[in-house]
Amino acid sequence: MSKAQLVAMARKDLEYGRNGMQDQADSIHKVPIENYYDQARWEGEKEKIFRRMPLMLATTAELKEVGDYKAMEAAGVQVIITRTRGGGIKAFVNMCSHRGARLVDEGCGTAHRFSCPYHAWTYNPDGDLVAIYSADEFGDINKQDYGLTELPSLEKAGLIWVTLDPKSTLDISLFLSGYDSLLAQFGFDNWHYAKNQRVEGPNWKVAYDGYLDYYHLPILHRETFGTEIGNKANYYSWGPHTHMGRPDASYEEFENLPDEEWPTSRLVAGVWTIFPHISIASFAGGGRSVMISQLFPGATPETSYTNQIFLMEKAPDTDALKKDAKQQFEFLKYVVQEEDYATGIALQKNLNAGVRDHVLFGKNEGGGQRFHQWVDALLETSDEDLPKLFETG
Ligand code: FES
Ligand SMILES: [Fe+2]
Repeated sequence: MSKAQLVAMARKDLEYGRNGMQDQADSIHKVPIENYYDQARWEGEKEKIFRRMPLMLATTAELKEVGDYKAMEAAGVQVIITRTRGGGIKAFVNMCSHRGARLVDEGCGTAHRFSCPYHAWTYNPDGDLVAIYSADEFGDINKQDYGLTELPSLEKAGLIWVTLDPKSTLDISLFLSGYDSLLAQFGFDNWHYAKNQRVEGPNWKVAYDGYLDYYHLPILHRETFGTEIGNKANYYSWGPHTHMGRPDASYEEFENLPDEEWPTSRLVAGVWTIFPHISIASFAGGGRSVMISQLFPGATPETSYTNQIFLMEKAPDTDALKKDAKQQFEFLKYVVQEEDYATGIALQKNLNAGVRDHVLFGKNEGGGQRFHQWVDALLETSDEDLPKLFETG
């Protein structure tokens, strides 16, 4: 079914490519400038979006084996994700139940026990408190009441979602709106984790707007990506999540093939955004790879940071491939840092100056329009009404 959906999108991209058309939203959309710097709104976004929506925090490739873990900070919450003895994953607040120390330093690793660096209380990857240091002198507590604080999580399509609110009842599958079955076509469960690198940027929405935008490609990136790719996008949405294809007459060569014979690796090219903060884009240097950009609000409304997680279909196994892959990652950091985010940081200063009241998203920028509409809707939706919002999409 999902392959058929990929082919249906490619057929539309083909038709648009032949006719010189592209996706058009109904109208031009205005976004108030203060949405990009207002402190109260920004706090609301952190609370109602980053602390309430499932976030794609990790990839299966980063913690494949039993005992592997990933520790990271996400929107101010320190999180640890573990691969448990049963082979599944669990997510916890990275916080010792004794007096709150951070259990594990940030990064990926392997551990069958987590011993707190402060007073050595020890937990297993299932989050159970298994040992208390000098237990007799400490006094009696019921260990079962002092396991780690678990967070809702779901592993699908080789990607791992975590909701930062331990009390959240929002069904992560409902939030995904079927999009995970499309993402599954990549086959990320079997891919290789290559690298993670960080880039500092402007307000998270200024930065994210760029990932939903092909309009700027041949202009801002003319020296790096070049102009071949064009400036036109076709947007395909599942709930708040949007895939970007583009008008592409070169699909003609597959036109008369049955769906199953269209090459999947070609069909999943383009950009896959996962609301509210992920973009997945395909590259070829050193072998087939994706850059997964994971954005988080920074310390102030004007700042954000992005983890660039690189997965490769196969681990590069020759020096030449390794060198090509390394160059590809460095190149992409350069493009994002020196072109996208340098532009965004200077743009942010203009927004903060408050001399105009709105910015524009054209009819050719429907993906950005839809993203801002979802942000607005979530800020106004109560916890009780969230399921309804995703059911109606
Ligand atoms: S804070 Fe972890 S053992 Fe004391
Ligand atoms: Fe860009």
